[in-house]
Amino acid sequence: MKLGIFGVGYVGLVTAASLADKGHTVFIHDTAKEKIAALQSGGIPIFEDGLEPLLHQNFNRLSFTHDVHKVISECDIIFICTGTPQDENGKADLSQVESAVNEIARHSLSDKIIVIKSTVPPGTTEKMEQIANKQTSDSNFSFAHNPEFLRQGKAVYDFMNPSRIIIGASDKKVQEILKSLYSAWDAPILQTDARSAELLKYAANSFLAMKISYINMISQLSDQLGTNIDDIASGIGLDPRIGSDFLKAGIGFGGSCFPKDLKAIENAAADIGVELPFIGQTLDINEKQGELFFEKIKAYGKDLKNKKITLLGLSFKPNTDDIRSAPSIVLSEKLVNEGARVTAFDPLVRDFPVEGVHIAHSFESAITDSEITVIVTEWDDFKKLLLVENIRRMKQQPVIFDGRNMFTLEEVKSAAEQYPLNYESIGRPQVSSLGVKNQIFV
Ligand SMILES: NC(=O)c1ccc[n+]([C@@H]2O[C@H](COP(=O)([O-])OP(=O)(O)OC[C@H]3O[C@@H](n4cnc5c(N)ncnc54)[C@H](O)[C@@H]3O)[C@@H](O)[C@H]2O)c1
Repeated sequence: MKLGIFGVGYVGLVTAASLADKGHTVFIHDTAKEKIAALQSGGIPIFEDGLEPLLHQNFNRLSFTHDVHKVISECDIIFICTGTPQDENGKADLSQVESAVNEIARHSLSDKIIVIKSTVPPGTTEKMEQIANKQTSDSNFSFAHNPEFLRQGKAVYDFMNPSRIIIGASDKKVQEILKSLYSAWDAPILQTDARSAELLKYAANSFLAMKISYINMISQLSDQLGTNIDDIASGIGLDPRIGSDFLKAGIGFGGSCFPKDLKAIENAAADIGVELPFIGQTLDINEKQGELFFEKIKAYGKDLKNKKITLLGLSFKPNTDDIRSAPSIVLSEKLVNEGARVTAFDPLVRDFPVEGVHIAHSFESAITDSEITVIVTEWDDFKKLLLVENIRRMKQQPVIFDGRNMFTLEEVKSAAEQYPLNYESIGRPQVSSLGVKNQIFV
C-alpha cells in the first residue's frame, strides 16, 4: 500500500519505518522543516534503539517530503501522528491534529481514510471527521482511531511486537482495510468504535500511572517504617492478579504521555460532569514523591549553597533523549534555587532548559569532587560505572541519593565496606558507613 504519515516524532517516525519494513511505501510530512531536511539527508532527529538500522534498511520505501500535496495525492490512507500536548488549562491541545486534518481535507481530490494515532480525548475522531467532510463535497473522508501503545526507549520493538492492536472505527469497510493492513503483525486485534478506542488509551495510561503512584504511596510509608519497598513490591507483584510491572518505587513518572494524558482525561471527564478521583490522586502522589525526595536531599545537606551536586540522568527514563516533563527538570530547579552547584550527566541529553545546570560531557567529570550524587534516571551505564570504578572520584564520604532504587542494598553495602559513603533511596533503609544515626551500619 501507499501510506501517508503526518508528524514525524517518536510515534510517527517509528510507525513510518515499521510500515515500510512490512513492504509498504510510506510518504512522510512534518511541519518542522528541519526534521524533514535531516531525514532526507539520512539523519535521525530522535534517538530510539534500533530505529536507525530500520530506517536505513527501508530507505527506498520511505519518502520524506516538505510537499504536503504529494502525501495527500499519493496515499489513500493517512496516519496522523502529530503531538497532543497539554494546553494552559490542562486539556489536550488538539491544534496540531486539527491543522493536519484541515490540510488533508483542503487538498484532497479523492476519498481518504484518515487514521488518528495521536492520543485524543473521546469524541475527537468523530469531530475531526465532521470537520474534514464539511470542507469539501468532492471527497469523502472516513476516520478511525488507532491508539499507539509503544514505550519510548523500546518503541521499535513495541511497534513490531504489540500486545494488542486497537482499531476504532464505525465504518465496517474501514475496519476491514485496517485489519488487513495489520494482519502482518502477530497480535490480537480489537475492533471497536472510535470513542471507545480513544477512552481505552487514556484508561490504559492512567492505570499504569496509578500503579506507579500506588507503589510510591506505599514507599512513603515504608520510608517511615524502615521497611524495604523493593521486597514489598516483589511480594505484591508475584500475585498474578496484580503483576510486577510498573511496581517500581522511584521519584515519580514524567515523560510526554502520562502527566498530560492524565490531566487531559481528568479535564475531559470534568467537562461532562464526571469526577475521576483516582486520576487526580495519582498526579498528586507523583508530585509529592518528587518533593519528598528533594526534602530528603535538603535535610541531609542542610545548607546546599555552593555544594557540588551531580545529577545522573536527565531524560524521563533510560534509553531515550526525551526530557518532556522529566523529573530532572523540577528537581534541578529546586537545587539551583538552593544555591547548589548542579552538574548533570546524561548519555544522550545535551540541551537542558534549566538555567544554572552545568552539563558535563563525561560521567567521570560529572562525579569528580561531587558531594552529593543523585541518580535521577537509571541508565544501565550508571550501574556499571558508579559504585565500582568511580566512587573514589567523589568527594570523601560522599552521599548518593538513588531516586530509582538502581542498586540493591547488598551492592551498596559491599561498596561502602571499601569506601565510606552514605546511601539513601526510596522506601528502603539507608546504608551508611559514616556513623550516621538511624541507618544500617556496614
Ligand atoms: N511518545 C510516546 O511514547 C507516545 C506513545 C503513544 C502515544 N503517543 C501519542 O502520539 C502522539 C505523538 O507523540 P510524539 O511523542 O511522537 O510527538 P512528537 O512531539 O515527538 O511529534 C509530533 C510531530 O508532529 C509534527 N506536527 C505538528 N503539527 C503538524 C502538522 N499539522 N502536520 C504535520 N506534522 C505536524 C511536529 O512537528 C512533531 O514533529 C501524541 O498524541 C502522543 O500522546 C506518544
